[in-house]
Amino acid sequence: MGQQLPAGVSTRLNGAPTESDAHSLTVGNDGPIVLHDVHLVEQLAHFNRERVAERSPHAKGSGAFGTFTVTGDVTAYTKAAPFQPGVETPMLARFSTVAGEQGSPDTWRDVRGFSVRWYSSEGNLDIVGNNTPVFFLRDPLKFPHFIRSQKRLPSSGLRDATMQWDFWTASPESAHQVTYLMGDRGLPASWRHMHGFSSHTYMWVNEAGEQFWVKYHFRTNQGEQNLTNAEAATIAGQDADYHRRDLYDAIEREEFPSWTLKVQIMPFAEAKEYRFNPFDLTKTWSQKDYPLIEVGTMELNRNPANFYAQIEQAAFSPSNMIPGTGISPDKMLMARVFAYPDAQRARIGSNFHQLPVNRPVTAEFNNYAEQGHMQYAHTGDAPGYAPNSYGRMFSDAQVTVDNGWESDGALVRSAATLHAEDDDFGQAGTLVREVFDDAQRDRFVETVSGALAGVAEEVLVRAFAYWRNVDETIGRRIEEAVRAAA
Ligand code: HEM
Repeated sequence: MGQQLPAGVSTRLNGAPTESDAHSLTVGNDGPIVLHDVHLVEQLAHFNRERVAERSPHAKGSGAFGTFTVTGDVTAYTKAAPFQPGVETPMLARFSTVAGEQGSPDTWRDVRGFSVRWYSSEGNLDIVGNNTPVFFLRDPLKFPHFIRSQKRLPSSGLRDATMQWDFWTASPESAHQVTYLMGDRGLPASWRHMHGFSSHTYMWVNEAGEQFWVKYHFRTNQGEQNLTNAEAATIAGQDADYHRRDLYDAIEREEFPSWTLKVQIMPFAEAKEYRFNPFDLTKTWSQKDYPLIEVGTMELNRNPANFYAQIEQAAFSPSNMIPGTGISPDKMLMARVFAYPDAQRARIGSNFHQLPVNRPVTAEFNNYAEQGHMQYAHTGDAPGYAPNSYGRMFSDAQVTVDNGWESDGALVRSAATLHAEDDDFGQAGTLVREVFDDAQRDRFVETVSGALAGVAEEVLVRAFAYWRNVDETIGRRIEEAVRAAA
């Protein structure tokens, strides 16, 4: 006997009471189901539409809400509302892996996404970053190719090391990020134990209109911790949702994780002469040249009440900027400003910005993009056009924006650079030689040689040359380890 549930407690989509959530309407006990069983048809039809497409990339992730509290004074660099002294701003954060699909293990080696949103009084500000300070590419035209090379083979639907290394070794600008990925940061112990970076250079503008270049660093207050290859492999088999569970459980226990936001600030005019192209996403800025300056603390203290509504439908985007912030001439960033809202119109729907998790919380909203699928918010009988003579506000200024820069020249497709130390391998070599210690270098050789197992010979020889370009010794050690294991 099944459990007896009280009847008549649910409703149909029109709000009328249902008779049963367990028994379909049939002609006699064994007769056919009838099409006018509205409740059954509604349930089956809605179920067929229950999933939106997963994010491509960064499909597997999770997040939480929290608060940002300003602790430093960066008013000399930005007028942005959430960074003013004494201000507290509600936040949302989402962490993710890049290549895996929904359901893939959290502990597979990968870069981790680090997305944050300030629901500020002047609109939503998003930084959609990673747990590494650089990226694989410096030109957005390559991004879809890169992601496809990390996903699955067209034939078998399997992931494939030859495909990954083929792309990386034919794109030497990837060396710095691949070095991070194959190092300890490729396997964070939990999302609570990793740092976050804007990676890109952004712009800040202060009250006087002065401009600065800025990189965001979120330093974990839990301490950086990582997994070994063996630990990660075991956990991947035992609990695919290990990182999602860790964050959720910690917040339920009221062990609220926090990160200190620090920034590197470069005066506007120094960008031209800096030894690296400061807008090249494959490069970091030396902290000796541009030390970290404290801004405030992000604490995550509230789990989503509903994962689907608040995390799956969250639409982070680098296009979400507010006064006092802006982008830089980083080609990747300029493309991302277009790519994210476009993906979200396709993934969630044209009115994704109206969802509670995406709309501004503390800022006034007045935008004339109206109607379309699932319009929910509306302005009653207010004019739907601007300019109008009937009281709905609209903007009408002619200005030079304060977060732009001057630029002219012929239209080119070029990677040319004028900075002294711009090359693909230099900073990756510094990372291996000067940041990694002996134990990290040993683990690095083990990880890279393991990741090269089974790679086709013609790509393998390119991989050995790639690592020799990063560092002669490390390249030789990787080649020896691969050949010894073959
Ligand atoms: C031209 C380069 C890039 C393009 C075209 C691109 C495109 C995308 C797209 C279409 C999504 C899915 C968005 C959604 O459906 O909500 C996504 C997600 C994401 N991307 Fe990128 N991406 C690029 C580079 C980067 C870089 C450089 C970073 C980090 C510094 C990054 C970090 C992320 C993160 C963290 C997410 C997940 C956002 C979330 O948590 O919802 N992406 N990307």
